[in-house]
Amino acid sequence: MSPLVVLLIPLLFSCSPSSSVPIGSRYILRAIDVDSNTGPDLHDAAVDLNTTNFDQVLRNTPATYAIVEFFAHWCPACRNYKPHYEKVARLFNGPDAVHPGIILMTRVDCASKINTRLCDNFSVGHYPMLLWGNPSKFVSGSWDPKKDKNEIRLIDDGRTAERLLNWINKQIGSFFSLDDQKFENDHLASNASDPEQIARAVYDIEEATSTAYDIILEQKMIKSETRASLIKFLQILVVHHPSRRCRKGSAEVLVNFDDLCPSDMGTPNKQEATDGNGKGALRNFQICGKEVPRGYWMFCRGSKNETRGFSCGLWILLHSLSVRIEDGESQLAFTAICDFIHNFFICEECRQHFYEMCLSVSSPFNKTRDFALWLWSAHNKVNERLVKEEASLGTGDPKFPKIIWPSKQLCPSCYFSLSKNDDGTSQINWNRDEVFKFLSSYYGKMLVSLYKDKGLLGDDGTDRVSLEDLATTTNAVVVPVGAALAIALASCAFGALACFWRSQQKNRKYLHQLHSLKNI
Ligand SMILES: Cc1cc2nc3c(=O)[nH]c(=O)nc-3n(C[C@H](O)[C@H](O)[C@H](O)COP(=O)(O)OP(=O)(O)OC[C@H]3O[C@@H](n4cnc5c(N)ncnc54)[C@H](O)[C@@H]3O)c2cc1C
Ligand SMILES: *[C@@H]1O[C@H](CO)[C@@H](O)[C@H](O)[C@H]1NC(C)=O
Ligand SMILES: *[C@@H]1O[C@H](CO)[C@@H](O)[C@H](O)[C@H]1NC(C)=O
Ligand SMILES: *[C@@H]1O[C@H](CO)[C@@H](O)[C@H](O)[C@H]1NC(C)=O
Ligand SMILES: *[C@@H]1O[C@H](CO)[C@@H](O)[C@H](O)[C@H]1NC(C)=O
Ligand SMILES: *[C@@H]1O[C@H](CO)[C@@H](O)[C@H](O)[C@H]1NC(C)=O
Repeated sequence: MSPLVVLLIPLLFSCSPSSSVPIGSRYILRAIDVDSNTGPDLHDAAVDLNTTNFDQVLRNTPATYAIVEFFAHWCPACRNYKPHYEKVARLFNGPDAVHPGIILMTRVDCASKINTRLCDNFSVGHYPMLLWGNPSKFVSGSWDPKKDKNEIRLIDDGRTAERLLNWINKQIGSFFSLDDQKFENDHLASNASDPEQIARAVYDIEEATSTAYDIILEQKMIKSETRASLIKFLQILVVHHPSRRCRKGSAEVLVNFDDLCPSDMGTPNKQEATDGNGKGALRNFQICGKEVPRGYWMFCRGSKNETRGFSCGLWILLHSLSVRIEDGESQLAFTAICDFIHNFFICEECRQHFYEMCLSVSSPFNKTRDFALWLWSAHNKVNERLVKEEASLGTGDPKFPKIIWPSKQLCPSCYFSLSKNDDGTSQINWNRDEVFKFLSSYYGKMLVSLYKDKGLLGDDGTDRVSLEDLATTTNAVVVPVGAALAIALASCAFGALACFWRSQQKNRKYLHQLHSLKNI
């Protein structure tokens, strides 16, 4: 049997017009980023910044470092420098980057009036001038050559592409080369036993959420019988997705769901109407905001182009949800996740296996802990199977071999003991309390630690969904009455979660709006 059989169901009904995305078995698990017809030659790789977007772009970038080039469009030396800068930028920026997510390369035109104060703040004295630093240090930042604070540094030798890359390599101890090919020479391969790596996964969770949503629409997977399952999953995302912008985007989709994708769409006529008028209305929603998907993976980046990526991101999303739900929601989350994978994960073997594991659960979950540990052990069962399969087929990622997780290195206290069976396989006696503690911290706090720094969590710095998120997206003046009602109806028709969620809401104003709409 082939390891991954991708099932493409020719569906009759959908909420959006199709567009063609090549689906290859392994490839689909990694990324859906090939439909970018914007080759590196059509667009600059370095990102143009000005006063308006400077802070925002640098605050939101997943990259670890940033370079800002201050130039003037009239300066001939700058024009001659551009190809050099671009050559390096192409290594690091954009979906086609060889080493994405490490260094964000940008430029600011100081000869443009609106940027005068910005350039003053960074003491721009000559063109082109290159500054280096952690992206967040540039946000509302400044640089003064007299104060040697070391947080932002002047790049003093970057006159050619080679010299700039040399400077970078010296600065961060890397071995980047202008000849690097995509998915080769991954010098900065992430260290899987470094617990802090997980902080980068928050970007992958966004990428996976957005990719999953795209696939669902592209493959026309919303049918009358799968609709409820998607709504249920969205309800969990709205409350518990680790990324604020995904919570917000999911809320937008959910609020508009009934209008865009009516439940009686299962008749051909209705379908035409949806496609004709709505013209892929669900497509107009970006479930994690404008900046996602980015087209590359961070924590889940494989060392080969066909490994890891999407399916890794999906696992991390599920684990991060499992530690965020409350005890009372655990059974609901369990069924929502099982049904979601069953209906919407296009890897046929994966969804079959996963569903079998779901069906083998006999008593309902009552505790977050039980569900989180179940998901962990289900994932390990998959790992166990794939260890053998990948060894015999050679389809694994050599840099990320499947293991029973977490390793002893990652979580020493998770192990009571480790012994060898007669057949050479190892027998692990888990300390399940410690495993749950580890899962909660790893997929809870640590996962969002970067976002905390960047203020991308809720306004109060907590994980909770902010009612303001909803209030702004579902402004009662703009949202048609039917849509506001849809949330109320969908909530109570499809489970306790959203009702629970509403009961947690303290925003009287919003509730009041909902009530008054309901009474119309
Ligand atoms: C629901 C589901 C079912 C799947 N079923 C199959 C299948 O039947 N056949 C198949 O070939 N592929 C299946 N896949 C894909 C496969 O599991 C991997 O996602 C893929 O091979 C990429 O592997 P990876 O190295 O990125 O690690 P992944 O297995 O994707 O794991 C991602 C990360 O999660 C962490 N992790 C690993 N194990 C655990 C654990 N037990 N608990 C918590 N965190 C953990 C690690 O940090 C790891 O790097 C499935 C994926 C999903 C989401
Ligand atoms: C500033 O940059 C943004 C984003 O690229 C762009 O939309 C805007 O027009 C720019 N403003 C000016 C004055 O150039
Ligand atoms: C310049 O710096 C000042 C104070 O540090 C700050 O208030 C201002 O917003 C900055 N201006 C720009 C354009 O970034
Ligand atoms: C990986 O990270 C762990 C924990 O931070 C560290 O002990 C180990 O030395 C690292 N390994 C490599 C190869 O960097
Ligand atoms: C993966 O990379 C190889 C070699 O670079 C290339 O031939 C192949 O087309 C790539 N596959 C995809 C799906 O991008
Ligand atoms: C949850 O509680 C119910 C009723 O109290 C019980 O029957 C069930 O076994 C419990 N589930 C688990 C997984 O403990």
